[in-house]
Amino acid sequence: MSMTVSECTQTRDGFPRPFPNTPANVLEQFKLNGKVVVVTGAADGIGLAVSEAMAEAGANVALWYNSNDAAVKRGEELARDHGVKTVAYKVDISNPEEVQKAVGDVVRDFERIDVFVANAGMAISKPILEQTLDEYRKQMSVNVDGVVSCAKYAGEVFQRQGSGNLIITSSMSAHIVNVPTDQPVYNGSKAFVTQFGKSLAREWRDFARVNIVSPGFFDTKMGASPLAVNEAYRMAVLGRQGHVKEIKGLYLYLASDASTYMTGSDVLIDGGYVLP
Ligand SMILES: NC(=O)c1ccc[n+]([C@@H]2O[C@H](COP(=O)([O-])OP(=O)(O)OC[C@H]3O[C@@H](n4cnc5c(N)ncnc54)[C@H](OP(=O)(O)O)[C@@H]3O)[C@@H](O)[C@H]2O)c1
Repeated sequence: MSMTVSECTQTRDGFPRPFPNTPANVLEQFKLNGKVVVVTGAADGIGLAVSEAMAEAGANVALWYNSNDAAVKRGEELARDHGVKTVAYKVDISNPEEVQKAVGDVVRDFERIDVFVANAGMAISKPILEQTLDEYRKQMSVNVDGVVSCAKYAGEVFQRQGSGNLIITSSMSAHIVNVPTDQPVYNGSKAFVTQFGKSLAREWRDFARVNIVSPGFFDTKMGASPLAVNEAYRMAVLGRQGHVKEIKGLYLYLASDASTYMTGSDVLIDGGYVLP
């Protein structure tokens, strides 16, 4: 039963909580100098653009990759170009032991984790009636199990530190059913991580923020396939896919002190795809 007006007027110890001690100047708020950011799927695509954004803003970056060891060279370039510390780690996020070990390795190498960007994902875009259960399990093992493991082990660090920030790359596919390619498992896996992230925002309210980014089609390896690309141009109000440089600012905003009052939000960035 909901509370009465008089019950609601009772004060609670510790509330309201204090405003954060962050700069008033908005450009200062966006600076990440000295912060430690982990990015999964950092070798290419959205994850590489996010890693660049973090390094450009002054953060030290742990670049996690699975099969694409270009992350090693990219990390070295970011360190050289921006005077930050970077380390590349090979981690299969579908393996929880590897995730747990890699989180420990990052804390050993950087002493803390301020922001964890759970960005890695994969798709085997097929109708369920043409999809094998192994293909289903593979997608779930990365998109769902991988994000859960990353959140669990990064969350332990956040709780210990008393602070943290988790950003999950979901998809507009958590909001809409993609056309013309049926891909119910991918869509369902992204709906899971969106609701999971919102739920963590409450669970971790005393020590960490959690937000979700839901991209529309971006021009990466996981962007619109040749079968879907013309429909992507038609559906998106802006008539094109996004360039990864166009998503950097959103992740930086969520990672930085510019967004200290934001948690549990799911931000669509899709060129207006889901509007019609
Ligand atoms: N591009 C789009 O249109 C779009 C739209 C909505 C959402 N997204 C989401 O955005 C995220 C990034 O995708 P992207 O577009 O940047 O494509 P991408 O360049 O192919 O990135 C996917 C990344 O996931 C990593 N990955 C896959 N399986 C992994 C595993 N088992 N362990 C660790 N890492 C693994 C890959 O690492 P390796 O290459 O090192 O194996 C790769 O870096 C994904 O979660 C995707 O679902 C993309």
